[in-house]
Amino acid sequence: MAVIDNPTTLQLTPQSPTIGALVDGIDLRAPLTDEQVAEMRQALLDWKVLFFRDQDITTDQHLAFAQNFGDLEVHPFSPHKQGYPEVLAITHNAEFPGQENGWHSDVTWRLEPSLGSVLRIIDAPPVGGDTLFADMYAAYDGLPERIKERVDGKVARHDFELFRKRHERAGATEEELAEFDKQYPNPHHPVIRTHPETGRKGIYVNAGFTKEIVGMDPDESAELLEILYRQASFPEYQVRFSWEPNSIAFWDNRSCQHYAVSDYWPNHRRVERVTIIGDTPYYDPSQDPGLATDERFQGGIRRWSQS
Ligand code: SIN
Repeated sequence: MAVIDNPTTLQLTPQSPTIGALVDGIDLRAPLTDEQVAEMRQALLDWKVLFFRDQDITTDQHLAFAQNFGDLEVHPFSPHKQGYPEVLAITHNAEFPGQENGWHSDVTWRLEPSLGSVLRIIDAPPVGGDTLFADMYAAYDGLPERIKERVDGKVARHDFELFRKRHERAGATEEELAEFDKQYPNPHHPVIRTHPETGRKGIYVNAGFTKEIVGMDPDESAELLEILYRQASFPEYQVRFSWEPNSIAFWDNRSCQHYAVSDYWPNHRRVERVTIIGDTPYYDPSQDPGLATDERFQGGIRRWSQS
C-alpha cells in the first residue's frame, strides 16, 4: 500500500449550525499522529458527531481508530462480529426489522457509560436507513427556565430492561437473568450531565434506558422525563446523516443522542459499531462555561404558531 500522508489540519465542513461536521482529507487506513488525534478530539467536542466518507477500512483499522480515544467495551447483550468481541454487529432485514429507532445515548445502563461510538456501514439499504443525531446541549439550553430548575441536580435510574426482555424471549433462564442483574446493577446518573471535557450542561436521560427520576413523585417524574425526551425530536437540534458505502460516523455519547431511522424494511442494513468506554457521569454547574454556540436556543425555539 502506498504511504498515506495525512494532513496536519483537519478539513471540517459543518452539517448544521451546532451539530455534525464532515471531515475531509484524512485517510483512516493510516495510524493517526498524536496531533491528529488531539485535533479530532477537539473537533468531536465542538461538533458532537463527525462524519467521514470514502473510508474503505478494515475491521482492525476501525478498532485502531477508536482506540485513539480510549479503551473499548464488549457489549454483553448484543451479537458481535465473529472473532472481534469489541465489534457490535447490527444487522436488520425482513425477518428482523430495525429497532434502534428511539433517541438514546449508548449504554447508559452502565455505571461508566460510553464516551463515544464509531459506526461503520457495511451494507447500506438502497434508500433510507439514515441516522439522526441531536445536540443535547442545545436541547438543554432550549428548555424553559422553570423546567431547568426542576431537573438540574436530579438523578435518574437507568436499566438494561430492553435487553433483559429480549433475552427472556430468547429463553434465558432465571439464573442467567439474575446474573445479568448482578453484573449490571441499575446506575443512577445525573438527569443533566456536565460534560467532563467542555463543562457544558446537556440532557442525559433517554426513553430507551431511563426509568425514573429518583426520589420524585412518579407522575412528576414521568411528566418531566417526557418533556426532556421530546427535546431531541426538534429538528433545530438535529443533523441527519445518509449512509453511503464506506461512510463512518463518530459521535460523543456525552453530548448527543442518536436515532436510527427504521424505514428500509424489508431491505437489509448492516452496520458495525465500536464503543469507547467513558467515565462516571456527574453534575457540576460551576464548570459551565456559559453560552458558547447555542445562544440562539436559550429559552426555546420560536415556533410559527407563536409568531
Ligand atoms: C446505534 O444505535 O448505535 C446504531 C445506530 C445506527 O444503526 O445507525
